[in-house]
Parts: sequence; structure tokens; C-alpha cells
Amino acid sequence: MNAFNKPSPIPLPATFNLGETATDLEDATPRYRQLAARLQQLIEQGAFPSGSRLPSVRMLAEQEQSSPVTALTALRYLENLGLIEARPKSGYYVRAKSLLLKEPRNTTVTEAASEVALSKTIMRVISAASRPNLVQLGAASPNHVLFPVSRLRKLLTANNRTMLEAIGNYDMSMGHPELRTQIIRRYAHYSVLLKPEEIIVTVGAMEALNLCLRAVTQRGDTVAVESPIYFGILQIIESLGLKALEIPTSARDGISVDALELATRLKGQVKALIIMPTIQNPLSSVMSDSDKQYVAELMEERRIPIIEDDIYGELYFEHHRPRPLKAWDKTGNVMLCSSFTKTIAPGFRIGWVAAGRWQQEITHLKFTSSVATTSLYQIALARFMETGGYDHHLRHLREAFQLQIRRVSEAIERYFPRGTCLSRPRGGYLLWVELPKPCNTLKLFDLALAAGIFTMPGCLFSTSERFDHHLRINCGDLWTPQIEHALKQLGELSQRCME
Ligand SMILES: Cc1ncc(COP(=O)(O)O)c(C=O)c1O
Repeated sequence: MNAFNKPSPIPLPATFNLGETATDLEDATPRYRQLAARLQQLIEQGAFPSGSRLPSVRMLAEQEQSSPVTALTALRYLENLGLIEARPKSGYYVRAKSLLLKEPRNTTVTEAASEVALSKTIMRVISAASRPNLVQLGAASPNHVLFPVSRLRKLLTANNRTMLEAIGNYDMSMGHPELRTQIIRRYAHYSVLLKPEEIIVTVGAMEALNLCLRAVTQRGDTVAVESPIYFGILQIIESLGLKALEIPTSARDGISVDALELATRLKGQVKALIIMPTIQNPLSSVMSDSDKQYVAELMEERRIPIIEDDIYGELYFEHHRPRPLKAWDKTGNVMLCSSFTKTIAPGFRIGWVAAGRWQQEITHLKFTSSVATTSLYQIALARFMETGGYDHHLRHLREAFQLQIRRVSEAIERYFPRGTCLSRPRGGYLLWVELPKPCNTLKLFDLALAAGIFTMPGCLFSTSERFDHHLRINCGDLWTPQIEHALKQLGELSQRCME
């Protein structure tokens, strides 16, 4: 369970010997994570200094009485965190100390639910994004060369009957059967068992989230959200006249389940929970399975519907992506939303929701909101997924993002003011940066924009002022000297903001 301020259950041995074996530990986290956590502690305490070699996979496995696969997975996990690096034919080494920037501090206080009044600021920032020739460090959008655009274009222009019918007919279904089938097949691998007719295809995840909130809330109601939270969700909350109750969320493990439990004790006060358990925007945090199960059961017991946003889930860096929270849903209390915006084709605007108990309401709302979603794009997506290559494409995408995150992190370490803290994403392509407090990142946004750099200030991610010195950085572009130069300039401007 992710309870802030709880002492870590992992003992810190003084010597090279890792001490207690994983089975001695009480918690139910996977063994590779327990092993990784102990190794990480040893690195951070200096038992393995920068540049030193870690024990081999075989030695670790022997010492831990675990399988070599567990030892290797632990090492790969630390590699993904940027703490160690693999050197060909030599083993794993601790990366230079310079990469060990502290992670952003956790928020610990749940403030009262509040109305959202951010739309003006959000639109001022977003409208600047389309100015030509900006270095894009703000919007969460990868470089288009990373997407399979030419294959999709071919699929779109295929001169076959289905495509022609898709253009010439008025489609009033809730989703094209081919795409619905592809989605349910994929999620079956993640222990989410759905029927094709349970999938409602939407215009992006944004429409899905919108419909879910409309199905379970009324003007004036309170919705619990992670803090910080993707500003698009705050905009929906604002447009529906709802209030946001921000729950402290850690950059590593996601929402504080203790804070959530406390905040939802009073019956009927919170009408829905929106949550991103796998790769949260902007934190890129990932909840443990035990936390997901706990939240699913707690919300069910308290009759609070969960809206799960899984839009970054497929971009998890390790071999097997974590199960969505929906996998623990026994009663249809979880509405699972996602889209192909971050993985295949942002321009298609295809999203979906498996709406559980609210299937009927959302079907009705979808029909009255946009009738149906363009089937041409659905078919092209389905065929791309069906004819193979999706997993290959995802592997390529994840590798590119991982590398990019490492490069941007190194540049931030080099150029940003002392005291800067940085998240360590385990997937996706977003970094969350905490600058020293005097630095107001909305002011920094204006200065950076004047210098041709687009950034995303922390104030957009909360109704409070607690993230006014934070910044979300997009690592979805390809590394160029221009990006490095922009990060250097941003570091200098941050310094100026503090003076
Ligand atoms: C967390 C999150 N949810 C939803 C959306 C909206 O997704 P779409 O573009 O598919 O509507 C985004 C877009 O950036 C996002 O980051």
C-alpha cells in the first residue's frame, strides 16, 4: 500500500551482501521490485558508487535464491529508472552520480474540494503551442515520424468494399466490429475480459472521459482526482460545473490510497474518482497491483464510480505492462477509457470506453453528443492492429521514448538550477520537474515563449498554487542539438526567474 511517510519495509544492509531475502519481507510486491528497491537503496547510500559494477545476474540470483529472470528483471527495472546502465559483454554499472537528481516531493495535504477556474489560463497556454517554429517541450505529443503514418495512409486509401461502404454510409453503431474485437483481444492479455459490444468508440479519450463524468455526476458534485492532474480533465470538470477534490499523488507510486480512503469516508460526498493508475499524466507514476486492488474494492464498497484513464498504459517500458485497475473490477464499477492518440495516430482522434454499469447511459450520451465515430479511421486502425506490427511498433516507440527521457534528464541535470527535482518515468514520455520555489513557471512560460520554446507550466495541473514552480516536459520529440540548446536556455531562464 502506498502510504506516504510510512517507513520502507526494506532493510539496508551495510555490506555487499543484500541481507534478507525477498521472502522475508512482508509486503506483496513482486520479488524483482523488492530486489530492485534494495539495490536502489544501496546505490543511493553509496554502497555501490557511481561507475561501479553491480553483481552479475547469476550472483544476484544465487544470493537472493531467486531465478535469474527475477534478478535480470530487477536490473532492467533499475536501468529503466536511469540508475544503472548495461555495458555490452560486461554487465550492469551504476550511472554517473549526475543522474541521481532527487524526485519531486510528494504532496501530503488534501485540500477542500474546489471549483475549477483554469480554462482561461489553459487556453492562453495551449493557443501559443501552434505558433510556428517553436521547440516543443510542452505539449504531450511525440514527433510524427515515430508513428506508422505511411502504413496507415495505405490502409486508409485501400480500395475495398468495406472502406467504400464506410465512406458512403451513415454509421450509427457504437463502434466498428473489427476495432472492438482488436481492443478486447488486447485487453484480455491484461486480465480485462470484455465483450466487443461493451466497447463504445469515441472521439479521442477526451470524449470518453467527458461522457463518463456526465453519466455519473450532476452540476455541483465533487470528483476526486490525482494531484497534480492532466489539465484536460480539469477543463472537463470546469465545463460541467463540478468540483475537484485533489488527492496527494506520488511521482513514483501514484495516488496515496490512505489519503483517498480518508477523503471518501463521508458517504455521498464524492461522486466519482478519475484515476490514471498506469503512467499518470503529468507524473508518469505507476500504482502497485495491491494499491489498484485496494482502490477498486474501496470504491465499490463506498459506491463511488471509478473512471480509469489508461491512455499511456501501453507505453510502459518493461516487457509486460501492468494490469489496468479494471482487472480488479467485479461489478462494473470501473469505466475504462483509452485512445490511440499516444500510440498510433493522434490525428485519427479515436478513443474508446468500456463503461461497465453505465453502458446504457453512455451509449445514449454518445449518440446525442456525436452520433458515432468515423468508421474509416476505426477500420484502418483495426487492420493495422490485426495484420501484426502493433507490438513491434510499440517496442520501437518505447525504446525511442526511454532514450529521449534519458537525454532530456541528463540535460536538465546539467543546465537547470541547483535544487531541481525530476521524476523517473517508467513509461510514456513526460517528465515532471520541480524547480526551486521562487521560480514561477507561468512567468517562465512567457520568457521561454519569447525565446521560441513552448513549455507547460505546473499551475495548469491543479486548482491550488502548489505546483506553481513545477514544469511538465515533453520528451516525445527526437533529440537534436536544437532541443539541447532549448533546454540550456530554459535552465538559464529558470535561474533568472529565481532572482
Ligand atoms: C491523460 C490524458 N487523458 C486524455 C487525453 C486526451 O486524449 P485524446 O487526445 O485521445 O482525446 C490526454 C491527451 O493528452 C491525456 O494526456
